Amino acid sequence: VQWHIHRGEAFAFLRELKDASIDALVTDPPYSSGGFTRSDRTTGVQSKYQRHDVNPEHELAAFSGDNRDQRSMLAWCTLWLSECFRVLKEGAPVVLFTDWRQLPLTTDAIQAGGFVWRGICPWTKMNPRPRKGGFPATAEFVVWGSKGPLAPRDDVGCLKGAWHAPKVHQSKRLHLTEKPDEVMREVVRICPPGGIVLDPFVGSGSTGKAAILEGRSFVGCELSEHYHAVAMARMNEVQP
Ligand SMILES: C[S@@+](CC[C@H](N)C(=O)[O-])C[C@H]1O[C@@H](n2cnc3c(N)ncnc32)[C@H](O)[C@@H]1O
Repeated sequence: VQWHIHRGEAFAFLRELKDASIDALVTDPPYSSGGFTRSDRTTGVQSKYQRHDVNPEHELAAFSGDNRDQRSMLAWCTLWLSECFRVLKEGAPVVLFTDWRQLPLTTDAIQAGGFVWRGICPWTKMNPRPRKGGFPATAEFVVWGSKGPLAPRDDVGCLKGAWHAPKVHQSKRLHLTEKPDEVMREVVRICPPGGIVLDPFVGSGSTGKAAILEGRSFVGCELSEHYHAVAMARMNEVQP
């Protein structure tokens, strides 16, 4: 298996990929969640995704693209998903992470991008942020689908459609919105063994690491110079 992570903007990167060359899209784009009001949209990602009492030595770098309102978020997702549609093989699966606020938008976006929407799977967290007098936001979601009818697989039976795993502990996190390895290793199995997984929003490289550990190849892209370096180091640890 092989991997490559480009440093730059997702559109420019996707445009360089060949038609029908990729076996699965697994991505966790900036959610732009909570962008209902002007102050929500202008809040920095660190105050959104990091506890206010974070130990300064565990503070994580900011990233961009998390400040769109609902209309522009839908338009933007439709654009890059349409480009992903072009580069995916017929029957390839698509997996998009989202949260409860952006769930309706994400199920619209996957279809607007041209894919068949096939379902929603939850990642329930063992350690959600508590909410006094109300239900905590216990889950994030995977919205999934495929390019046309899902390609048949004879190498695997049913995959797990729900994952229960703690958020990565603040002291160990490499990215503000890092996804746990145990979730990602299950999720990337939607790609056939030996196939190529695409993630245009790499962050700290959780999708890529899981893909390599599960015997899939990986191509990805990250805009932030800092997180690109973090992802490269992480990938080099699993497969130099
Ligand atoms: C939600 S995070 C991904 C986190 C990742 N799943 C992890 O576990 O570390 C989204 C990433 O997309 C990057 N990003 C935002 N806009 C981008 C763009 N237009 N092109 C490429 N990357 C972008 C951000 O810098 C951020 O690191």
